[in-house]
Amino acid sequence: MDGPSGSGKSSVSRGVARALGLRYLDTGAMYRAMTWWMLGQGVDLADPAAVAARCGEPVLVSGTDPDGPAIHVDGVDVAGPIRESDVTGSVSAVAAVPEVRVRLVALQREIIGAGDIVVEGRDIGTVVWPEAAVKIYLTASPEARARRRSAEVAGTTAQAHQEAMARRDKLDSTRKTDPLSMAAGAVELDTTPLTLEEVIGEVLRLVKE
Ligand code: ADP
Ligand code: CDP
Repeated sequence: MDGPSGSGKSSVSRGVARALGLRYLDTGAMYRAMTWWMLGQGVDLADPAAVAARCGEPVLVSGTDPDGPAIHVDGVDVAGPIRESDVTGSVSAVAAVPEVRVRLVALQREIIGAGDIVVEGRDIGTVVWPEAAVKIYLTASPEARARRRSAEVAGTTAQAHQEAMARRDKLDSTRKTDPLSMAAGAVELDTTPLTLEEVIGEVLRLVKE
């Protein structure tokens, strides 16, 4: 399941994994965890060589339970801190560094190779697992995506989210290594006019086809 921020990847993937009794992997959480660690180490994120030089150091462990996706860095539970705005604002710069992607894609392939799973991110169908049985590309209008995020985060406006998302979309879809794009053979699903339950139902239908 690939797509931009707020298109519904996490909610839909978790719902589909629950319905089918499958594992679930949030690859964005891995890029966020790497970013959280870099910020804590004081690495200059504007310097890709510095990020590349350090990205092999943290030990990242990702859980695969759709009911409580866990993520640990060097034994520390970072599920909360990786959602903070400092990480959100820096993650695309870290994710653009090819050495970071090589390391995280290898970890992702190891987890995926252990058995059936629903995986969400930006490059799952294009790079991480192009042989996936079902590939979905979720979209939604910029307004709907921003509205959804502002509903999740108390005290924030849709306008501010829309600007931050547009900036991240641009960085994610124009980076040289594995940019966000729709995979060959993927089904595009525009979630704007649908409820979460309708989207999950549509994905389950595609899986069973
Ligand atoms: P992403 O992982 O793509 O960033 P999330 O699943 O984290 O997206 O966020 C989507 C938010 O929008 C959730 O709070 C979800 O409940 C809400 N939402 C509302 N309508 C829909 C829909 N039709 N499809 C998916 N999510 C929806
Ligand atoms: O939660 P949200 O959809 O906003 O983002 P996320 O899925 O947590 O991903 C955070 C960031 O990680 C993205 O903006 C990308 O820069 C990067 N990412 C990536 O490059 N490749 C992936 N497979 C997943 C995320």
